[in-house]
Amino acid sequence: MPERFEQTMYEMLAQTRAVLTELKSLGVDEVYPLAGTESLPLCSQGMSESNLQRCDCRTETLDEIRIELGDCQRCKLAKRRKNLVFGSGNSHAQLVFVGEGPGRQEDESGIPFVGEAGQLLDRILFAMGLERDQVYICNVIKCRPPQNRNPNNDEICACEPFLQRQLASIKPQVIVALGKFAAQTLLQQQTSISQLRGNWADYQNIPLMPTFHPAYLLRNPAGKRDVWEDMKMVLRRLAQEDSP
Ligand code: URA
Ligand code: URA
Repeated sequence: MPERFEQTMYEMLAQTRAVLTELKSLGVDEVYPLAGTESLPLCSQGMSESNLQRCDCRTETLDEIRIELGDCQRCKLAKRRKNLVFGSGNSHAQLVFVGEGPGRQEDESGIPFVGEAGQLLDRILFAMGLERDQVYICNVIKCRPPQNRNPNNDEICACEPFLQRQLASIKPQVIVALGKFAAQTLLQQQTSISQLRGNWADYQNIPLMPTFHPAYLLRNPAGKRDVWEDMKMVLRRLAQEDSP
């Protein structure tokens, strides 16, 4: 075998092994064939007319919401932020993930979930057979709190209407709330995330699955199995929503 070819083969094997090891640590005990997940309805652009709401008014677009936020100064987090982190992904996604708020890397890049927690979220998406551009990812608050402290109530209150408008614009089939802040904010409840997770809840008639935050999983890897159970429920729900 030519030496370079052999080297490439070894690299590919090593990468495959790393991915499988990561999946195993997530508690994944089955791998979906790509054909199965490709048929999942992740973009509603092609939806039939009868499925679309018929009304005279149109929903605002994500771009319009972003423009209205502008150089937002609605709360004190504006002062120290480098970038407002609006959200990223498919504006017609059938699945939306809502996190807490930007960390350092997100503040620097303006993109949600790009740090260590984001890399874990990417692996969870991979295990679900999904790519980032098939889903939409955003946060409860759009600017980084100093030292990544928890968001204050006044900050959540200033930002929440924009999250609500983003969700109303996207109209996903399913929402995943990542961690306590997303779940409690969207559900207007104080119940702990360990009690909420794994149980379907309702956000404006959209099924919402609360689960642990990836940053929590980095500290408590044992929780990955619970999250994978929750994500399997999400995949089943998406498949169900798609069937006539
Ligand atoms: N944690 C979050 O909740 N959101 C991000 O965007 C990054 C880390
Ligand atoms: N605390 C949180 O805020 N989120 C989790 O997911 C777990 C504990």
